[in-house]
Amino acid sequence: MAINPPIDATSTPAWAALQKHYDELQAEGIDLKKWFADDPERVKKLSFEAGDLHFDLSKNLITDETLRLLVNLAKEVKLDERIKQQYTGVHINNTEDRAVLHTALRRPVEDEDKYIVDGQDVVKDVRDTLKKIYAFAEDVRSGKWTGITGRKIDTVVNIGIGGSDLGPVMAYEALKPYADAGISARYISNIDPNDLAEKTKGLDPETTLFIIVSKTFTTLETLTNAREARTWLLEELTASGAISDGDEAQKAEAIKKHFVAVSTNLEKVEEFGIDPENAFGFWNWVGGRYSVDSAVGTSLAVVYGPAQFEEFLHGFHEIDEYFANTPFEKNVVALMGLVNVWYRNFFKAASHAVLPYDQYLHRFPAYLQQLTMESNGKSVRWDGTPVTTETGEIFWGEPGTNGQHAFYQLIHQGTQLIPADFIAFANTPNPVKDGDQDVHELFLGNYLAQTKALAFGKTADEVRAEGTPEEIVPARVFKGNRPTTSILGVALTPFSLGELIALYEHITLVEGTVWGVDSYDQWGVELGKQLAKQITPAISKDDDALAAQDASTQSLIKFYREHREF
Ligand code: F6P
Repeated sequence: MAINPPIDATSTPAWAALQKHYDELQAEGIDLKKWFADDPERVKKLSFEAGDLHFDLSKNLITDETLRLLVNLAKEVKLDERIKQQYTGVHINNTEDRAVLHTALRRPVEDEDKYIVDGQDVVKDVRDTLKKIYAFAEDVRSGKWTGITGRKIDTVVNIGIGGSDLGPVMAYEALKPYADAGISARYISNIDPNDLAEKTKGLDPETTLFIIVSKTFTTLETLTNAREARTWLLEELTASGAISDGDEAQKAEAIKKHFVAVSTNLEKVEEFGIDPENAFGFWNWVGGRYSVDSAVGTSLAVVYGPAQFEEFLHGFHEIDEYFANTPFEKNVVALMGLVNVWYRNFFKAASHAVLPYDQYLHRFPAYLQQLTMESNGKSVRWDGTPVTTETGEIFWGEPGTNGQHAFYQLIHQGTQLIPADFIAFANTPNPVKDGDQDVHELFLGNYLAQTKALAFGKTADEVRAEGTPEEIVPARVFKGNRPTTSILGVALTPFSLGELIALYEHITLVEGTVWGVDSYDQWGVELGKQLAKQITPAISKDDDALAAQDASTQSLIKFYREHREF
């Protein structure tokens, strides 16, 4: 099925109505305090449950009318059609002529035969690959799979970058309390040799297993690091006497025991020297940044076990089903995406903070940066025409409470509007008391206080009433009306982590559809890759290549050549 040309959101009646509505709200004055006072039902109307997550959108700069118009906009840009096309494998990633089927990665086995895409029974293939991954994971966890000297693996080292790193490392950090097999993981991504140097420090090569993760198996950073890791392993095993120098058969056996791969390109895996038997595949309909729940998550299946990985998949699926089957008016996933559009295009908010009140989620904002910004940082639409409005917010964040003592000042009192999502959980795996005070409740007190302060602020009169000298009253005023969404879960589990990831995946789809962009290509990373290939020879010796560079690049290289010490 061919995809339709994008509908220009800015020329829809809903857009014009939203602009008028925005202008009216600005003229009247946006006042959350008043909106709460005037409408006792506001919180009820703007609270939602999806899966086991609770959402409170009441502290956003939205009214019933805003949501009604945003839902109209979703309908006018045919969001429902785009969702359906995505879920059923239409090639909506048209610049790469690919289906976008990450939702099939978490479909239950009962869905086999229901999703035949381009002649492939995608759910069956997914389940078959999972079986292979789970068998491997069980073998490593039980000690049946050993290193070359027969010792149990205690560390897996994932080598990958972008989507082949950010999802796995984020989820590894998030789920640490679930590690139950005496296996830990490390993640090497950067081609900067410092990354590999630090991450291999203290590792015992006999008990280390490398998982090379690359969708294409051509990524410079990953293949360079994989070769370095192979050299490191063989040198260390030789130095300790575990294998003999010059014994090629032993070397090949060591690679077999200590290297596995995840890729869509099994030929290249074999070329690298990894036994294709020890490779886990996925498909070109899984985008890198949408792949943590594919074989790309193999390190997670090893560390946390197949049962927890299945729970992770169930969490994604819960939100996939909710999103696809809930009318937009009540669909908090769709509404969050639409409210982001409201801020980006009408309030001109350029950035969006995601602030998890859970230390285990400390890599979640970094993960979301690739998911959202590589997806929607586009200037042309899926038919090649220029976009007609701003696209792609800058997503960023850090866990609370740390952020409170760093950048929250700017969110509270700065001149920019920065919508923020606050994420917390009712339960902690580490309950602690400080005297009589439950520390998790102290933590939650902060989570609640921040959104309250941002929404309702503090007036000059309230500041004065505290006895503040008049000259510093203005500095202590909080204007309020700073929008936040609160997400509260029961506990951070594999299931709820899957839910959270799926939530943001679909928010990205909603925004991308309104803007008419192909959220699933990433051509913007290509030019830098090409130029790096051209420039690298100029750095050390090739004077012709140097002369071919622009003046700024030449000058930087000259400085480098004058100062290098090796
Ligand atoms: O940065 C571009 C990109 O293609 C990402 O989309 C992808 O996640 C990353 O590189 C890694 O690619 P691969 O898994 O093919 O090594």
